[in-house]
Amino acid sequence: GQPDPCTIVLFGATGDLAQRKLFPALFELAREKLLPESFAVVAFSRSSHDNDAFRAQVKKGLEEFARTQPLDEATWKRFSSRLECIAGAYDDPASYERLSAHLDDVSKRHGTQGNQLYYLATPASTFPKLIHGLAGAGLLPRQEQAGAKPWRRLVIEKPFGHDLETARELNRELATVLDEKQIFRIDHYLGKETVQNILVFRFANSIFEPLWNRDHIDHVEISALEKIDVEDRGQFYDETGVIRDIVQNHLLQVLALCAMEAPTSFGAEDIRDEKSKVFRALRSLEGSDVASHVVVGQYEGFRDTKGVAKDSRTPTFVAMKLNVDNWRWQGVPFYLRAGKSLSKRVTEVSIHFKTVPFCLFGTSDTCQRLQPNVLRLRIQPQEGIGLSIETKVPGEDVNLAGVNMDFSYAETFDKPVPEAYERLLLDCMRGNATLFARKDSVEQAWAYITPILQALDSGKGGEVQPYKPGSTGPTAARELLARDGRHWTVFP
Ligand code: BG6
Repeated sequence: GQPDPCTIVLFGATGDLAQRKLFPALFELAREKLLPESFAVVAFSRSSHDNDAFRAQVKKGLEEFARTQPLDEATWKRFSSRLECIAGAYDDPASYERLSAHLDDVSKRHGTQGNQLYYLATPASTFPKLIHGLAGAGLLPRQEQAGAKPWRRLVIEKPFGHDLETARELNRELATVLDEKQIFRIDHYLGKETVQNILVFRFANSIFEPLWNRDHIDHVEISALEKIDVEDRGQFYDETGVIRDIVQNHLLQVLALCAMEAPTSFGAEDIRDEKSKVFRALRSLEGSDVASHVVVGQYEGFRDTKGVAKDSRTPTFVAMKLNVDNWRWQGVPFYLRAGKSLSKRVTEVSIHFKTVPFCLFGTSDTCQRLQPNVLRLRIQPQEGIGLSIETKVPGEDVNLAGVNMDFSYAETFDKPVPEAYERLLLDCMRGNATLFARKDSVEQAWAYITPILQALDSGKGGEVQPYKPGSTGPTAARELLARDGRHWTVFP
């Protein structure tokens, strides 16, 4: 249903994320008439703007990044009349008092009934200041009861902490002010249609789930490969690296959706409980184990990027082997890989089934070419699902060929796949936390990742391998699988 009337209070409105993702998502929701009738966006900005200048800036961003071009003028007219900005400083209590008075006024003018969604699209270092500033002015009261009105919620962007300790600290800070139900930790991968479809694929079809275990699955591969380099995010990326940027959140979340047990319901807590059990079952990697399970790489030229240290050892590529220690997955490795500046952009999960127990078909040559079935969940681009099967090539002899059964979103549905942020913003306004990371899972993911980062920092985890920009990554990533007699599906 339509969300309640509300005001979104946006911090970081002039930043990259807001321009590229948040405003385009809100605009698309407005175009599709999915926003509440009574709605407003108030940007809290450190540089002062008047409303007209702010709206012009948003429009410029939309002209570049909105999903539907050219911009629908009628939507823009409606949408822009709901955009306002107010100047203030993050550490100045008087600024929050002014914001509070302004929000009362907005609520009256736009009929948003005092419901407020605070969206922190700012660097992680600002989070504590902002949370306490808002709470200090009474804008973020703790609301323990479901359905409390007017509601107050907080959306917080990644990176959520820098390691286990800082993530715990941030969770503690949040808990001093808010109830967990009010906190929405964004992981935009969870908002992707194709990622949401993982659970539907698994639990709305009866034929795959009986095979979805160690008896039938040989291994699982999850790759998030990017063509773009770090662009102008050199300083952020040098401090972050691919493991914090992609693995700790996006890839572990996707892994959890692939590996979890069936939840008792499709409700937020039931789903998040099952994901949490997967995180707890990850076999920890420490010290020298890291060197045998993790390969890190850095593309040549990364160190020449503005904001990156000349001797940086920050990985821009990682390949790793994980084990999930539970009944379902014992002995089934999960291979994860992510990187920047590679030869193509592709994010995909592939489920590799076991080979047939005995080959009936002729010569050993034919039998050697017999390929196990692979189910490929194409997250992006060319969103869809493919299943490879072996087929007899028409003719006198029994010759086999691998062919593909395929579903493609573009060919099947006449609607374009929505952007992740459209769904996530709508869910925050509706108060549905299913697609957001819960406190325990964030900490569990960090608990798994932090010792790996420590081993890499101390040099015990192996050296950073250079690779050519636009290539398929370091050869050591291939060797990681070759040692197990396997190869990657993407970039074999
Ligand atoms: C972000 C990372 O979380 O995800 C970026 O910070 C990365 O470095 C991006 O490029 C990838 O998102 P998507 O939706 O393009 O796969």
